[in-house]
Amino acid sequence: MRGVVLAGGLGTRLHPLTKVTNKHLLPVYDRPMIYYPLETLVEAGVDDVLLVTGGNKAGDFLQLLGNGKELGLKRLSYTYQQGEGGIADALALAEDFADGSPIAVILGDNVIEKSIAGPVARFREQGRGAKILIKEVHDPQRFGVPTLDGSRVTRIDEKPARPASPYAVTGIYMYDATVFDIIRTLTPSRRGELEITDVNNAYIARNELTWEVLDGWWTDAGTFESLHAASNLVAAMRAARKAAANQR
Ligand code: DAU
Repeated sequence: MRGVVLAGGLGTRLHPLTKVTNKHLLPVYDRPMIYYPLETLVEAGVDDVLLVTGGNKAGDFLQLLGNGKELGLKRLSYTYQQGEGGIADALALAEDFADGSPIAVILGDNVIEKSIAGPVARFREQGRGAKILIKEVHDPQRFGVPTLDGSRVTRIDEKPARPASPYAVTGIYMYDATVFDIIRTLTPSRRGELEITDVNNAYIARNELTWEVLDGWWTDAGTFESLHAASNLVAAMRAARKAAANQR
């Protein structure tokens, strides 16, 4: 399966940190933010990746990542999103790259602890439709929030004032190639963006969306609080892994 990392947008929530650089180049503990979603894909065996970037300092990604070999990628392609038209707008740029194949998509500011190899393998078996990964959080109103009815997700609300569940839809999505047809039907939301939540709701309407709870911790890094939390989580994870290695 091919992979797409979405690192467009202007990162305005992190001003002034993002006034002269790109949000996804900011440090999360000991690495630039963009390393984490790329490593998540590589670890799951997804090593042919398109990076969609935008905004400030897009050229710095090339200098940082080159052809991606150092991170274990077989091929790293790049494209540029003009403006801040939303996550689905950024994803639309991946249509030629996907070339009719299913894709694993991850947002450039999502940092996770564990592997997504299991969900990726199960989506391969699923063969069509979409899969989302959800995670229980203390502040669901900041995210896309699923309504769960038994084993089904019946709808997703983007940043609801009164969340229907304690879960966030994480920024890790798997789609078949019809995702690009769905994006063509979207209209901008109240915040002026093509919303990934509308894409996922379209799959729900077709009864083609599956979901799993993500294993391990998950955070975005798009606000001062979550950027700080992400660094602390990674620092603790590195320390725990070092301690475990020393015990062996
Ligand atoms: O992190 C998970 C959440 O991400 C989901 O729960 C929400 O449903 C989803 O809408 C999204 O919410 P945010 O409001 O946090 O997204 P944000 O605008 O911060 O963008 C997250 C990443 O998406 C960003 O780091 C890069 C990419 N992006 C975003 C926009 C607006 C783009 O590539 N292009 C864009 O135009």
